[in-house]
Amino acid sequence: MTVRREPATPVLTVEDLSITFTQRGAAPTRAVDRVSFEIGAGEVVGLVGESGCGKSVTALAVMGLLADRNVEIGGRIAYAGTELLGLPRKRMRDLRGADLAMIFQDPLSALNPVVPVGRQITEMLSRHRGLRGRDADAEAVQLLGRVGIPDPERRLKEYPHQMSGGMRQRAMIAMAVSCGPRLLIADEPTTALDVTIQAQVLELLKDLVETEGTALLMITHDLGVVAGLCDRVNVLYAGRVVEAAPRHELFGNPVHPYTTGLLRSIPRMDGDRGVPLNPIRGSVNDLVAWADGCAFAPRCDRYELECLAGTPAVTELPGVDHEHRCVNPPGTPAVVR
Ligand SMILES: Nc1ncnc2c1ncn2[C@@H]1O[C@H](COP(=O)(O)OP(=O)(O)OP(=O)(O)O)[C@@H](O)[C@H]1O
Ligand SMILES: [Mg+2]
Repeated sequence: MTVRREPATPVLTVEDLSITFTQRGAAPTRAVDRVSFEIGAGEVVGLVGESGCGKSVTALAVMGLLADRNVEIGGRIAYAGTELLGLPRKRMRDLRGADLAMIFQDPLSALNPVVPVGRQITEMLSRHRGLRGRDADAEAVQLLGRVGIPDPERRLKEYPHQMSGGMRQRAMIAMAVSCGPRLLIADEPTTALDVTIQAQVLELLKDLVETEGTALLMITHDLGVVAGLCDRVNVLYAGRVVEAAPRHELFGNPVHPYTTGLLRSIPRMDGDRGVPLNPIRGSVNDLVAWADGCAFAPRCDRYELECLAGTPAVTELPGVDHEHRCVNPPGTPAVVR
C-alpha cells in the first residue's frame, strides 16, 4: 500500500487578497489586487517593489491591523490553516505577538511613546510567555543585546524618543522576536540602519528562520536583501504580483520588464566610472488601471498595443516554478545560475 503524504499546511496562505480604500468624496483606490502567496515553516518569502505598490498594506492586512472603516478586504488570509479574515478581535489579539509578529516600517509610530522600551518588551514577555519581574528583565536585556544594542541594561529604561532611529528599529525587532513567533513579517527592517548593523540584523533573522523554523515575510525594495535572504520572491507592481519565482530562478531568468528594470537599476560598485545609472523611467504614478491592461505599460520599453488589451493573464514558464504577467516578454534570456 502506498502511503500518501499530505503536504504540510503553510504557515501563511494569502489567496487573491484585494484591499480597496474607500474614502468619502474620493474614488476608491485598490491598493492590493488579487495577491497570492504562501510561506512554509523555515521559509523566507520576499515582497519586492517600489514605494506605494502595496507592500505594507498587505502586511497590515495579515496582522489584522487595517482599520475596519473605509477599507474593503477580499480574498483569503490563513495562518496555519486558521482563517484570519473575520476572526474575532480578541482571538486576533492573542495571535498577534505570540504567533504572528511584525517589525514595522516606522518604529517611532509603532512603539508607545510614553512607555520605556524595556517595559514594552517585558509586557510582551509577561502576556505571551508568562515571564515576570527579574526573569522578564533579564530576558529583555538578552534580547536587546542580541539585536546589537550596546549597554542594554541602561537602554531598557529609555523612552523611544531617547533612542536613535537605528536603535529604535532594533528595539522593535527585539520586541517582534521576543515571543518566538511562527510567522514574522519584516517591513523594511533594515532601511534605517547602517550597513554593519544591517548585516547583523539580517543574520539574526536568518538565524531565527534556520533554528526556530520561523516563516518570514520579508518586505523590501532592496534586491541585495532579497539575494541574501529570500527563498522565493514576489515582485509587486501597483498592487499586483507581476512575477514570482524562487530566488535563483528570478535573478537568473527575470522575465517581466519591471523585474529586469529593477535588476538593472542596482548601482554597481565594480562598474566603470562614467557609465550612467539605469533607472526605470517615469514613476509608479504613471499607471494604467489593471482592468484596462498592464499597469507598467506607460514605463515599459517593450510596450505594444496588446499591452493595453485587458488584464495580462498569468503565464507559467514551462518546466520551472516561475510565473509572470507580461504579454510581451523578451525572448527567453539565457539562464544564468
Ligand atoms: N489608510 C489608507 N487610506 C488610503 N490609501 C492608503 C492607506 N494606506 C495606504 N494607502 C495607499 O495604498 C497604496 C499602497 O501603500 P503601501 O503603504 O502598502 O505602500 P508600500 O509598498 O509599503 O510603499 P513604501 O515602500 O513607500 O513603504 C498607496 O498608494 C497608499 O497611498
Ligand atoms: Mg511600506
